[in-house]
Formats: sequence, structure tokens, C-alpha cells
Amino acid sequence: MRKKVIAGNWKMNMLPGDALKFLEEFGPLVKDSTSTIVLCVPFTDIFYVKNYVSDMPWIHVGAQNMHFEDHGAFTGEVSGEMLKAVECEYVIIGHSERREYFAETDETVNKKIKKALELGLKPIVCVGEKLEQRESGLAKEIITKQTHLALEGLTGEQVKGVIIAYEPIWAIGTGKTATAEDANNSIKDIRAQIAEDFGQDVADEVIIQYGGSVKSSNAKELFTTSDIDGGLVGGASLKPDEFSKIVRYNEQ
Ligand code: PGA
Repeated sequence: MRKKVIAGNWKMNMLPGDALKFLEEFGPLVKDSTSTIVLCVPFTDIFYVKNYVSDMPWIHVGAQNMHFEDHGAFTGEVSGEMLKAVECEYVIIGHSERREYFAETDETVNKKIKKALELGLKPIVCVGEKLEQRESGLAKEIITKQTHLALEGLTGEQVKGVIIAYEPIWAIGTGKTATAEDANNSIKDIRAQIAEDFGQDVADEVIIQYGGSVKSSNAKELFTTSDIDGGLVGGASLKPDEFSKIVRYNEQ
């Protein structure tokens, strides 16, 4: 059975002091959770957060992006090796905000995933359609193509170590959530694509999250469907009490 992975995406929020204040409250609230908990924090928080959670092994730390090269003349970029050096375990790759504002393409996403896996980082790979694409019936085509291109050239064993986050763009930060049924169906489409490319046994193991306006009031409905294996949570992951309720969705 696939374990639920619930990841917070803090985006460009939280100074180190805010992060530690968050952890002081959040850490004890989720101590006995059965889900894997990941906090994807700004680069400048990673070192502080890792230090703070050294006696909270139930909290894992991730970054929100990385470069696919190890080092070199790439001003302003951070490599996977650098993330490993501060003991980061996860990294979000290809978030729609990076695709839209920072010109990430399916090709750079694919290169980043390969580098992350090579280094032993766990990639959380985002795919998702725009509103007009959903409305014109193209959602399935878009998300299966993004999935296929993101994972191209990987082995089935490698794919088992990738987490996919299905995030319909129209649901991110808008308060509009996909219905649990729609989200589950889109995730089934993604899983079917992985089965076609790598075999059913691989597809059955891959963790696929839902993201887009997840909150404590909808987490249980979403996370108890057949194919949704947890969530990637933006806004609601900034509030310790609210995020702890999402992590503990099964106790509601
Ligand atoms: P949201 O963001 O929960 O604020 O909609 C999700 C995300 O962008 O990962």
C-alpha cells in the first residue's frame, strides 16, 4: 500500500525566525502522524530548519527548485549537490509557477529530475492543466504528456522514487479546489500513463499527490479516494494549526 505524503510548499514566504516559530508549534502537533511529512522551504531556511528538526525525525525537509548542473557560471542558481550538502531530502521540480514565470520547460524538468535522482534527492514533480485547457477537454492530454516527458529516459526503478503532484493551475492559490472525484480521475490518468511507459507494477507504487487549495476542510475527502496519495499544500501550510489538521486528516 502506498504511504500518504503530505508536503508543504512555503513558496517565497517565511524568514528563518518565522520558520522556527512555525516548527515549535507544528512539530509536536504532528508527532504521531502516519503520513510522511515534508516541508519545502526557501533555500535560506533549509539550514536552520534542518538543524531544528534534528530531534523531530518525523519532519522531512525539501527545497522548491534546483539546477540540473553540479556547478558553474549560473548566477543565482542552487545545485542539487548544494541541497545535499545541507541535508535536504526532497525537491519540488517543475512547479507551475516556475514553468510560468521562470521559463521552465518539460526538457529542463526532465534534466532536473535525472540529476535529483542521481544525487539521491526525492523529486516532487508538478504537472497540471490551465483552466482553458480543462474547459476545452484537453486536461488529460496535457497532464499525461507532461508526465511522459518529465519521466522520459528514466528506468522503472527510478520512477518508483519519484513523487508526482497533480496541481490543476486554476486551483492553485484561488480557493477553488478540484472535486475529489475529478482530482482522483486525473490522477488515474497520470497513473495509466506511467503504467503505459513503465509497467503496471511501477505505476502502482508511484506516489501521486493532489495540490491546489488543499485545506483542513477538504483534505479528508481528497486523501481518502483510491488514487490520491496525499497533497502538496501551499497557503495552508504556512499556518501550523491548519497544516497539522491537514496532516492528521484521517483523525477528523
Ligand atoms: P495552494 O498552492 O495550496 O496555495 O493552492 C499549492 C501549490 O502551489 O503547491
